[in-house]
Amino acid sequence: MEKSVVAVILAAGQGTRMKSAIPKVLHPLAGTPMVEYPVALAKELGCDPTVLVVGHQASDVEKALDGRGVLFARQSEQLGTGHALLCAEEALRGVSGTLLLLCGDVPLLETETMERLLAYHRTQKANVTVLTAHRDDPHGYGRIVRDGEQVLRIVEEKDASPKEKSIHEINTGIYAMEIPWAFDALRSVGRDNAQGEYYLTDIVSVARNAGHGVSALSVSSEAETMGINDRVQLATAAALMRQRINDALMRSGVSLVDPKTTYIDAQVRIGQDTLVYPGVYLRGKTCIGNRCILEPGAMVTDCEIGDGVHIKAGSVLQESRVGDHTDVGPMAHLRPGTDLAGHNKIGNFVETKKAIIGTGSKASHLTYIGDAEVGSEVNIGCGTITCNYDGVNKHKTVIEDGVFVGSDTQFVAPVRIGRNSLIGAGSTITKDVPPDALALSRAEQKIIEGWVLRKGKKKK
Ligand code: UD1
Ligand code: CA
Repeated sequence: MEKSVVAVILAAGQGTRMKSAIPKVLHPLAGTPMVEYPVALAKELGCDPTVLVVGHQASDVEKALDGRGVLFARQSEQLGTGHALLCAEEALRGVSGTLLLLCGDVPLLETETMERLLAYHRTQKANVTVLTAHRDDPHGYGRIVRDGEQVLRIVEEKDASPKEKSIHEINTGIYAMEIPWAFDALRSVGRDNAQGEYYLTDIVSVARNAGHGVSALSVSSEAETMGINDRVQLATAAALMRQRINDALMRSGVSLVDPKTTYIDAQVRIGQDTLVYPGVYLRGKTCIGNRCILEPGAMVTDCEIGDGVHIKAGSVLQESRVGDHTDVGPMAHLRPGTDLAGHNKIGNFVETKKAIIGTGSKASHLTYIGDAEVGSEVNIGCGTITCNYDGVNKHKTVIEDGVFVGSDTQFVAPVRIGRNSLIGAGSTITKDVPPDALALSRAEQKIIEGWVLRKGKKKK
């Protein structure tokens, strides 16, 4: 029988160097809090359970990860990484098998690397296997002290001798270890060191001294194991993550004109032959179909976009659905609750909100459609406004199929416009209009002949 594999993710530290009111592990990377990456990794590796050790602003972290299927262990005082792992012991009582130790601030680690670590740990029959890396500048990391091939111990930067500081092989902070052995081993670790902390790294020398197997696996990619301690590293990691996301999209058939300046969140999905110009932001759970075009400066958040949609420059779309073969923009604003059935045109300087718009309907210029239900094949003229707010309540405008709305019309809601009716330009519509009618509300035009000449106002 396969022994069980569990994960513990350390995320109790404050992250002082972020200089932030929000906990470090909740800072987003490509639109997702960084701690979600190791959580997803543990899930992909089949770890059951996954225990997240939380402490600093624990309830915020717990709330952010609610429903992700992880167990929480609290570390009320941050006494070091060794102490942090011991805090997970209770949640793992009775479990025997391999524990993968991940860090909440190491988000770029890949599944394949962890699979290699686990396989190596098993073939070495080690009690603890540490994932190491070589850094040109190892400053700040724990160093791997070896005697030939053998790993002797890990020494922290602050405790290292000048000779040890010159070692370029570093501790990534990621391990595979056997439990319950690891918990017993950690109990014999003291805090007699430069930081007065219980170091998880000391488990290596404890194992070595007791004659238990210690092994180390080195990864070549520097990026994958980078830890995030400040916002400079956060930006570096975000750029690497962006490249990963964009490369995957391009390989799946999406064209990015300039991937370096295209900002796509981790959860976004895009169909084949869609073309994305520079300076586009695709955020949240946005899903985009095939053969779309997204022009520069488009910002799309949590939207569902169909096939053959053209989003022109400078348009902002939020929590909206856009049906197939629709044109949006340039400079249109689709606010939450916009639902376009397809073959629509929402042109420049048009704003929509909670607007359900049927197939083939168009609002091409300078218009506000809010709290409205618009049927199919409706033509909304330039400068049309739904007056949905009376200062206290919001009211609804209903425009049925086939209506033609002349330019500069105001609909004072609540109001219903019957199918195939026609609204004369410049009207203020305050009452319901029956089907097939003409509605017009304008002051009659007056002509006073020769008025300008009599007043002597005409320029010579
Ligand atoms: C740790 C390692 C170091 C390694 C480096 C890799 C130790 C003693 N040192 O150092 O060898 O090179 O990671 O990035 O383990 N945490 C808790 N509770 C605590 C302390 C830390 O949950 O009491 C968590 C932090 O939130 C973080 C992780 O453990 O996610 C690492 O802690 P951090 O303080 O960043 O350790 P480093 O000094 O970077
Ligand atoms: Ca760190």
